[in-house]
Amino acid sequence: MDEVQQQTVGVSYAPCPPEEFCGRVEERERLGAMLAGAGERGQAVMISGPPGIGKSSLVNRLAYDVRELPGGLQSPVLRAEVFDLPGMIFSAFRGLVGDLARCAASGRFKETLDHEGIREAIRYADDVLEKYAAPVEPVGLLSKSGEEVIGIFARSPEVGYDRVRQAFLELLRELGRRASGTGRVAAVLLEDVHLASALDRRLLGDIAHDLPAGILLAFTCRTGDGAGRFEEIGAPDLVELPLQGMRGDEIRELARRRFGLAIDEAAADLLEAASSDPFSLMACFNALRRRDLAPTAETIADLLAGAPDPAALAFATLSGPYCAWAENLCVLHPPFPVPVMACMLDPEGTGPALVTERLQESGIFRRLPGGEYAFAHPLLQEHCRHALSADAKIALNARAAGCFERSMHRLSGRLHVLLSLACHFFHARDHAKAADLNLELGLRFYHREDYGTALVMTERAVASAEHLGDDALLSAARRQQDLVRRKAGR
Ligand SMILES: Nc1ncnc2c1ncn2[C@@H]1O[C@H](COP(=O)(O)OP(=O)(O)OP(=O)(O)O)[C@@H](O)[C@H]1O
Ligand SMILES: [Mg+2]
Repeated sequence: MDEVQQQTVGVSYAPCPPEEFCGRVEERERLGAMLAGAGERGQAVMISGPPGIGKSSLVNRLAYDVRELPGGLQSPVLRAEVFDLPGMIFSAFRGLVGDLARCAASGRFKETLDHEGIREAIRYADDVLEKYAAPVEPVGLLSKSGEEVIGIFARSPEVGYDRVRQAFLELLRELGRRASGTGRVAAVLLEDVHLASALDRRLLGDIAHDLPAGILLAFTCRTGDGAGRFEEIGAPDLVELPLQGMRGDEIRELARRRFGLAIDEAAADLLEAASSDPFSLMACFNALRRRDLAPTAETIADLLAGAPDPAALAFATLSGPYCAWAENLCVLHPPFPVPVMACMLDPEGTGPALVTERLQESGIFRRLPGGEYAFAHPLLQEHCRHALSADAKIALNARAAGCFERSMHRLSGRLHVLLSLACHFFHARDHAKAADLNLELGLRFYHREDYGTALVMTERAVASAEHLGDDALLSAARRQQDLVRRKAGR
């Protein structure tokens, strides 16, 4: 993007590109030491901190240091992200296996990974993960017009959790062996584990507990607001790397490198005291640039006082269609499939085709590796959701359900479609469809021992059946709710 364009749309709120990464010298040194030690004995590290503190950006930089840095390790990196949609069983772990398969097939790490042992371990882990999720993940979807949406489920052999753990650990052992055999360490990076359902957290804990040599496992987890899961993960050698707000010198570096702004010491001191998390700094510097204000302590104090929170400041300084796009898309669950996004923004399909580059240019959306989209930063989506009126929330969820139904034949993430529909029907108050689908899914998650997800679904079915006044459905939903509650210990 050229300078003029950047001036109008601002610097993206997505995790920082590694070349622009600022500060965090001690944290990077600690990660460097862990990498060096991971060849002998696998190492797990949790990068923790409140929203917007810079966890994803640090992971981006770590990936770069491990894989790309000239003269650095030049080692394989596997990455995946957990998204805010409970029930995506092992979806992030399947992402890691997929990443390894791509890595092994690419010429770059041929020397390290082109090996039958790895290929066999990939095939096995992939197969076991797929079979484990099969009872909830349909092989196909049908939308019967006017009736409920149904999934077609395969009758595959039951695979127990122990086989999943064993297959994934075997994969890591093989990867670790190959990496350390060539003097390297493979990095396995998993983001936002605070969003993971119980099964995924269990697998993460088991892996962190038995991590083989040659592997650095780094994952990010939000803390605060009861989001911390550190104790639950509970592996003995797990190191926590908590991130704090930026110091004055780091703030000045960020302003200079990413925004071309020269901040004096008084302004940096003010920001360090009042608003030192990088997300807030991004919102503040974008606002200064967009409004062409001098970056003095006085103007910064005024800016901060004028907005209730940093996400509000970020939106207040956006122009063009971006605010409307954000409002229309905020009820979706990432990853947003492109056909669904296009339908949300233009339900009648009468406008010009969705120009996805413009979404990215906006600075408030980012493209994911699979081609889908997400908000550039979750705080932006959370802000938009909170700002929706009750009526707008119902209307947008109804639109989202319709868009999924219309595009489902073109979408590959079947479980994502079903879970999204279950959620959108419920929030759209389409009680009949919501009750049926949530009850059905709740039962499937109960059998798969994901009681947290089962409870969410079943409670939705109960609420929808109450609205419908359907006594038979209500008593079935209540029976299932009791069953799940007993298992969930609630
Ligand atoms: N070290 C850094 N240098 C430059 N920019 C940064 C740095 N850390 C974070 N940022 C910027 O600050 C914003 C928030 O950072 P990031 O997304 O990494 O936070 P996070 O802790 O992952 O947030 P969340 O918990 O919501 O996922 C992003 O726009 C990012 O580009
Ligand atoms: Mg993040």
